[in-house]
Order: sequence, then C-alpha cells, then structure tokens
Amino acid sequence: MSVLYSASVIRTRVRELGEAIARDYAGREPILIGLLKGGVMFLADLFRAVQGHLRIDFMSISPYGPEGTGVVRIMKDLDLDIMGQDVIVVEDIVDTGLTLSYLLSVLQARQPASVEVCALLDKSVRRIAPLEIRYRGFDCPDQFVVGYGLDYGQRYRNLPFILSIPNPAALADDPGLLLPYLDRVGRT
Ligand code: IMP
Repeated sequence: MSVLYSASVIRTRVRELGEAIARDYAGREPILIGLLKGGVMFLADLFRAVQGHLRIDFMSISPYGPEGTGVVRIMKDLDLDIMGQDVIVVEDIVDTGLTLSYLLSVLQARQPASVEVCALLDKSVRRIAPLEIRYRGFDCPDQFVVGYGLDYGQRYRNLPFILSIPNPAALADDPGLLLPYLDRVGRT
C-alpha cells in the first residue's frame, strides 16, 4: 500500500476548492450538505476554507433496494429546507456515481435554486451514472482507498492522508493489517 495523497497535498487542494466556491458564490449563501460519515472530514476542512457566508447540514444514507440501482434509504434527513436555496453536495468519493445521482434526484425534487457537487475524489474511470462534478479534488485512480474520512469496515477514517490499498480482500481477512505500516510511516 502507499500514500496516494499526503496531508499537505490534500490541505492545498481543499484550500483551492474553498477559494473557488467563495468566488463562485460571492454574495450568496449556499448550503453545504455533508454525507455521513465519509464526507465529514472533508466538509469540516472545506467549509473553513470558504471565505464567505454559508450554512451546513448533514444527511445520512444507506444503500437500499437492488444492487446497482443507487437507491438509498435516508437515515437522517436535512434539518434545513432547501427550496429556493443554492446547494452544494459534499462527497468524499464518487465511484460509479449511482448513489449520488439518486440522491441528486431526491434533492432536485425539493426545488432548490441550484445543486452542485463537490467531491474530493473522482474515480471517473468507474462511472456508470453520468454526473457533473463542479468541484473535484483529485481524479482518483481505480484503486481502493482509505483515510481522510474513507473507511474499510469503519476503520481508518481518522488518517489525515489517503492510502491506496492494492488488495482490499486482504483487509477482509485481517482488518488490522495496515496498523504496522501506519506505525512505521506515522500518522501525520
Ligand atoms: P458509488 O455509488 O459507486 O459512487 O459509491 C460511492 C460510495 O462508495 C462512496 O461514498 C464510498 O462510501 C464508497 N466507496 C467507493 N470507493 C471507495 C474507496 O475506494 N474507499 C472507500 N469507500 C469507497
């Protein structure tokens, strides 16, 4: 396994995304929607990087219905009413895009003024559902990644960097497999 995006590379890119959002939404007050749990670390850094007015809210979703449809059940809905509001959905990673495109259709039905997507990682080669990502951190290679909010079996979310795992099946056998490596490279 190897460090795909270091903490400082992520920090720089998140700052750039925050500046772009501040520029594009000058004079407006968008609502950033974070998706629990993976998007939390990204959202926390991103919204501090936006010099301007904004609000945040959270949704928690889980897969529901036949596999490959992207249909999700909303476990925690938004507190804010987004009708007539500018919305930016903040995602950790977009893979096939099925989950996000389903979620976008749910949000569109609430008649916001606009909806855009900000994703830290875009595994564009895996895309099935066409999707426009207005703000993209990195075009991610087709590898399984953990860290900076992304998990394997709920582990590794608190790493400040993103690791690529060439053989995720090995983690299924031994979920603590990465720990000796992390002790060696350090966590910062
Ligand atoms: P999609 O519907 O295929 O786009 O699924 C996106 C979701 O799959 C993300 O929100 C993640 O929860 C999960 N996911 C996809 N790729 C990875 C990965 O490499 N590491 C960890 N989670 C991933």
